[in-house]
Amino acid sequence: MNSNNVKNIPKMAVHIGGGLTIKNPVMAASGTFGYGEEYAPYYDINRVGAVIVKGVSLEPRAGNPPPRIMETPCGMLNAIGLENPGVKIFIKEKLPFLRQYTTAVIVNVFGETLDEYKRVVEIVSQTEGVHGLEINISCPNVKKGGIVFGTDPDMAYEITKEVKSATDLPVLVKLTPNVTDICVIAESVQAAGADAISLINTLTGMSVDIEQRIPHLANITGGLSGPAIKPIALRMVWQVAKKVTVPVIGVGGITSARDAMEFLMVGARAVQVGTAHFINPHAAVDIVDGMEKYFMEHNIRDVNEFIGTLHEGR
Ligand SMILES: Cc1cc2nc3c(=O)[nH]c(=O)nc-3n(C[C@H](O)[C@H](O)[C@H](O)COP(=O)(O)O)c2cc1C
Repeated sequence: MNSNNVKNIPKMAVHIGGGLTIKNPVMAASGTFGYGEEYAPYYDINRVGAVIVKGVSLEPRAGNPPPRIMETPCGMLNAIGLENPGVKIFIKEKLPFLRQYTTAVIVNVFGETLDEYKRVVEIVSQTEGVHGLEINISCPNVKKGGIVFGTDPDMAYEITKEVKSATDLPVLVKLTPNVTDICVIAESVQAAGADAISLINTLTGMSVDIEQRIPHLANITGGLSGPAIKPIALRMVWQVAKKVTVPVIGVGGITSARDAMEFLMVGARAVQVGTAHFINPHAAVDIVDGMEKYFMEHNIRDVNEFIGTLHEGR
């Protein structure tokens, strides 16, 4: 690369809330990138902005019985059931691997009760090498009849408040799209102190085997992800970015730099790449490269100049 090209390399760092700046706006989405180790043979993890690890809970969880995955047109249904080794084993056996990189490590946390979320957050917050937390509120509150935390504005508020009181780390709250008005929930978590909002998690769906007359998934329903959900995710990010002042992080069906740039244009400060990893393990890095190339071709010197630049009028 000659000195001219070096001069033209755009600035890619973005601030994603709570004092956390990441080197570029592309992160690996929770549950689709394991704990990083699985992808290390394919490329240098230092090239992505952040790795969001698979969700961790207080105790180990075996997840749901198989079949837990089903391909759908332009996407997939999963009912993994948040299988994970529990926070203590995560810290002891998984986190050390990620500490060797300069990429931000964001720990995705979930629980069945407010207390469980809080306990996991406290434990993770006392650990070195964690740069932020992402709180998955798409889980049923077993103490409130199984209502999903993120579908009720009061519960979403309460859980955000509790988590914030238990940590000094930046807190990203990840919203479920399975609601009537995503803006109400977004405003609620912002009011409770969320440093950033990630959206969307998967959309609940199902699929049936008509020969056997049974659902394809043992859990009957599962979460739909992949390109099929991108227009919905994009619409929700656009809506939420207009309503809140904290950074919004877009996720849902992103497979290319162009997809990612659509999210940035409607107001996302950063994006996450999920299901695309199962088709192309290099997806996140290819997206970083593609964005840089586009910015250079269009003489955009800093990604922050590009964010939120959608013209809504014709
Ligand atoms: C197999 C699988 C496991 C997932 N596990 C988690 C998880 O542990 N925590 C979480 O917040 N989201 C989880 N997600 C949701 C993704 O992080 C992402 O929000 C969603 O898949 C939409 O993005 P995509 O279409 O790019 O995959 C999972 C998704 C998939 C496909």
